[in-house]
Amino acid sequence: MDLTPEIELIEGEVLDAIRRVVRSGRFVLGPEVEAFEREAAAYLGVRHAVGLNSGTDALVIALRAMGIGPGDEVITSPFTFVATAEAVSRVGATPVFVDIDAASFNLDVSLIEAAVTDRTRCVIPVHLFGHAADMGPLLALVKDRGLFVLEDTAQALGGRYDGRALGTLGDAGAFSFFPTKNLGAFGDAGMLATDDDGIAERARVLRVHGAKQRYLTEVHGYNSRLDEIQAAVLRVKLPRLDEGNAQRRQVAGFYTDALAGVTAIKTPAVATYAKHVYHQYTIRVVGQDRDRVVSRLGEMGVQAMVYYPVPLHRLPIYEGLGYELPVADTAAREVLSLPIWPGLSREVQSRVVAALIDAVR
Ligand SMILES: Cc1ncc(COP(=O)(O)O)c(C=O)c1O
Repeated sequence: MDLTPEIELIEGEVLDAIRRVVRSGRFVLGPEVEAFEREAAAYLGVRHAVGLNSGTDALVIALRAMGIGPGDEVITSPFTFVATAEAVSRVGATPVFVDIDAASFNLDVSLIEAAVTDRTRCVIPVHLFGHAADMGPLLALVKDRGLFVLEDTAQALGGRYDGRALGTLGDAGAFSFFPTKNLGAFGDAGMLATDDDGIAERARVLRVHGAKQRYLTEVHGYNSRLDEIQAAVLRVKLPRLDEGNAQRRQVAGFYTDALAGVTAIKTPAVATYAKHVYHQYTIRVVGQDRDRVVSRLGEMGVQAMVYYPVPLHRLPIYEGLGYELPVADTAAREVLSLPIWPGLSREVQSRVVAALIDAVR
């Protein structure tokens, strides 16, 4: 991924913002963070945005703010970045994996019901690659069961489900501003968004060592404060997010058109309910050795990435749970993500397509 075209565009504004912070002498949880929280909440249309120091912490702190801990089960996807399930384990609860939907790579909502037990407290759908999980049936399913819904929106800020902003449909949304994300800081940063006053209030306490009043810790918390410099950078970039996402959609449209009819490749499907923000443009390589295609692309100067080569139920930390999740296993064998970012030139896009067609020939 090449972040430089975007950075060049905003360099002056970002340096001004950083200078403002340097001169203020306030570096952690100050006016920039407060302003960013207000602006991000307004962007999403939620009551509360809580700045944290990573997306992983946003998941952990959201679960803690929901009161989830040892003895509890949390249903989630096996096909995601490890942080999703790691957060569940970190609060002492147990992740319960259900298989994914082959088209969207997201949780197969029709399998959730069978996985619910009397210990289930929460479901974490992951809006993977920028495409919404099927939130309508999911919310209907949890409604009468008293389960929390925590949306892992790390890859999908700006995406929508039936017109509604991702990360605002459940009880809370967790966001990552890791530099390569659609809204990226210049270091680690994250956020929790919620309409629930109680969750927001508890998250604000948990991020500062569980102390409502300084030095009077009431619960075991974390140091998960957002830096002023990161917040100032995010404030410069947030107003450009929708434009960047639109550019990602254009790149995706070009790839999808150019690859139509290539039998060894299955381009991403977009559900009618989803506004995709293409954090990744992820294809499947069918009937061929995906890893060979990746290395052939590499030889031609195209860096394709595999998100994710090992589904979570096959990781050393979770394989002992004994899951068999064939749809996720197949996805892990077949997927390949092509270069995509705002400002990616048409010339490079054409080279990517030509190299890919050559690589699967
Ligand atoms: C789906 C998903 N969840 C959680 C995270 C964790 O975010 P962070 O890297 O900011 O901790 C990431 C990103 O890395 C992610 O892609």
